[in-house]
Amino acid sequence: MSVQGKNILLVITGGIAAYKSLELIRLIRKSGGHVTAVMTKASKQFVTPLSVAALTENKIYDDLFNLTDEAEMGHISLSRENDLILVMPATANILAKMAHGIADDLATTLLLATDSRVMVAPAMNVRMWEHKATQHNVDILKQRKVIFVGPEEGDMACGEYGYGRLAEPMDILTALNQFFAPQDQILRGKHVLITAGPTHEPIDPVRFLGNISSGKQGYALATAARDAGANVTLITGPSTEPVPQNVKLLKVQTAEQMLSAVLNNLPADIAIFAAAVADWKVADYSEQKIKKHADDDDIKTIQFVENPDILKTISKLVSNRPQLVVGFAAETTDVLKNAQAKIKRKECDIMVVNDVSPKTGIMGGDHNSVRIINLNSEEIIDYKTASKDKIAQQLIAYIGGFNK
Ligand code: CTP
Repeated sequence: MSVQGKNILLVITGGIAAYKSLELIRLIRKSGGHVTAVMTKASKQFVTPLSVAALTENKIYDDLFNLTDEAEMGHISLSRENDLILVMPATANILAKMAHGIADDLATTLLLATDSRVMVAPAMNVRMWEHKATQHNVDILKQRKVIFVGPEEGDMACGEYGYGRLAEPMDILTALNQFFAPQDQILRGKHVLITAGPTHEPIDPVRFLGNISSGKQGYALATAARDAGANVTLITGPSTEPVPQNVKLLKVQTAEQMLSAVLNNLPADIAIFAAAVADWKVADYSEQKIKKHADDDDIKTIQFVENPDILKTISKLVSNRPQLVVGFAAETTDVLKNAQAKIKRKECDIMVVNDVSPKTGIMGGDHNSVRIINLNSEEIIDYKTASKDKIAQQLIAYIGGFNK
């Protein structure tokens, strides 16, 4: 499924971005992966072996001619006993040595001796990256099926701008997860954006308008989509649900913040709008706490104005519209009829229909009972009442099939 349980041999080379390897080690460990680190001499100028050893909870390997290491685990076994070798950051120097088979220290010797797949995350000055020599080496390595993550475009430590920045540790983790994802995962490599939970619309500094949504169904969908191989962005209103691992989580409070987070995270292949967005916000937010007894009136009247409709906005996008837009219809009366009118109004491709009358216990509860309707067909699919986790897996299976 992911990096969980996998053994990564991490080669840290000497670039200013080497410190970011610490963050990546933390992310891999948090996801249940194991890391054995090999450090080049130059890398120790940028990150201490002690920090790397502490975070990997493992011995550091750095010397080709260390007899103790050779007795414990020779460099040949070190190069083979892993599920993947990751070079991060990969300098122009190590890419050149890898391309030309130069083995003059432990790291380069391992890379020459290995039969494992190799992933590299290059980081260097833009001119060095764009230099014909480096680009030629990159071509050679790509032909040999070395996997490249980045580099990214951006500001560099040296003050220049361009391609050469190390990919973010989270993006490298995603690449690792994708590498280990089974080929048959139905959403492998797809970007799935999911909204979840309620929104809270502030009234004054201590009060808000909200609803009883827990976020459970949206979080379960994020987990199921991740397990199906997707890169998931979960945009959530206030929720106490445990955060699924290996998912990009963005926390928001209000509908407006949720809409801008969604827009900022496009493009997506699939967008699922499971959030119970507050339909209104207050017309005039009060900077001060509203007093119980106002001067002129005992009960304060609060004016509301409509919030943006996120699902409708995204469904109607002309450019950047996700290939598949999925909405949820929360209804308490004329459930199917209202949902059918809603799918036409909002123009999403699929609508997951919920009866959220209090007797069902669905909103805020652990179980769900859903029907699916489609914009372009009369077909109605019924799912039996089940846990929200189970319903999420069924929905993701359905969406995956739809998206083939
Ligand atoms: N939705 C949204 N933005 C809003 C309101 C709703 O994105 N401002 C989305 C929800 O995430 C859900 C779908 O629209 O996917 C339907 O939400 P629902 O609450 O059922 O419908 P409303 O649009 O609020 O209409 P009504 O309250 O009249 O039923």
